Amino acid sequence: MSLRHLRSIEEVPADELLGLLELTDHMVEVCRRPVPKVPALRGRTVLSLFFEDSTRTRLSFETAAKRLSADTMTFAASSSSVNKGESLRDTVETLDAMGVDAMVVRHRSSGVPWQLSRWTDAAVVNAGDGWHEHPTQALLDAYTIRVEHPAARVAATEGRLPLAGLHVGVIGDVKHSRVARSNVRCFTRLGAHVTLVAPSTLLPVSLAGWASSADVLAATADLDDVVPKLDVAYVLRMQLERQEQALVPTLREYTSRFGLTAERAERLPASSLILHPGPMNRGVEIAPDVADRPNAVITNQVANGVALRMAVLYRLLAADGSEGTGAADAL
Ligand code: CP
Repeated sequence: MSLRHLRSIEEVPADELLGLLELTDHMVEVCRRPVPKVPALRGRTVLSLFFEDSTRTRLSFETAAKRLSADTMTFAASSSSVNKGESLRDTVETLDAMGVDAMVVRHRSSGVPWQLSRWTDAAVVNAGDGWHEHPTQALLDAYTIRVEHPAARVAATEGRLPLAGLHVGVIGDVKHSRVARSNVRCFTRLGAHVTLVAPSTLLPVSLAGWASSADVLAATADLDDVVPKLDVAYVLRMQLERQEQALVPTLREYTSRFGLTAERAERLPASSLILHPGPMNRGVEIAPDVADRPNAVITNQVANGVALRMAVLYRLLAADGSEGTGAADAL
């Protein structure tokens, strides 16, 4: 089955989900070459269309496109004709007229990637839409767990779902997090159990539809109880810019109940991993020294993000991309 767009985890079929992770292995190998560049997307153009700030996602998509020899175009809302009142639709159709094969879009409003795909024939990749989804973050996180956690490595080599049997705690500001939504969908589809750990004010009203089935998702406000049971502690950024009112009494109290402190990190099982999507608020949701512990794989997430995004662009744009991991021969 071919992949036309990547707007949500839901629209990635099961075989594609596993295929993208396998293709990322090949892209990691490309990234390790002395000259990390292949001609796979020569003649294709990838546009970064960012209406919100980004460091990791925008630069890793642009790096990924260049490593595949695609041409890149960068749109920055702050220096564009959006400031003269140009609409989103006119902006997209203007850029489309320049000849674009893929649009990587980030926007503060949920649903914008679906709107875009009605206005352009280019492949649309969701790089974060409001509180809704951030699918490539979820895929690069799943990939990082698959290569870094010993049980996941065994599961993958035995042909089981790569996160089978793993318990992932998604800790913090779940309510405002597009990363949390995509990750719960992705991790549970890949075999994990997920526990959301947050105060009730930072949980959504309903978790219906969040997980592949209701029995693989739980929620608690007791981080100390759940910490010793976690294979992965996935710490979310406290998203103060998306909170219209104070949802926690003070940041200090939040940190004392929901922060991954050094004491809590010590109580994680020995083989457990610590992940964070970035950017981090060190000292709020994660203690400064915890982010630098050997089992914190936060920079691995960033490095894998380039390879994973190469795999996504390849699957969307390469003439033979629909042949999945057979692509290895072409790289
Ligand atoms: N994780 C993430 O989306 O980071 P950026 O906002 O820097 O892209």
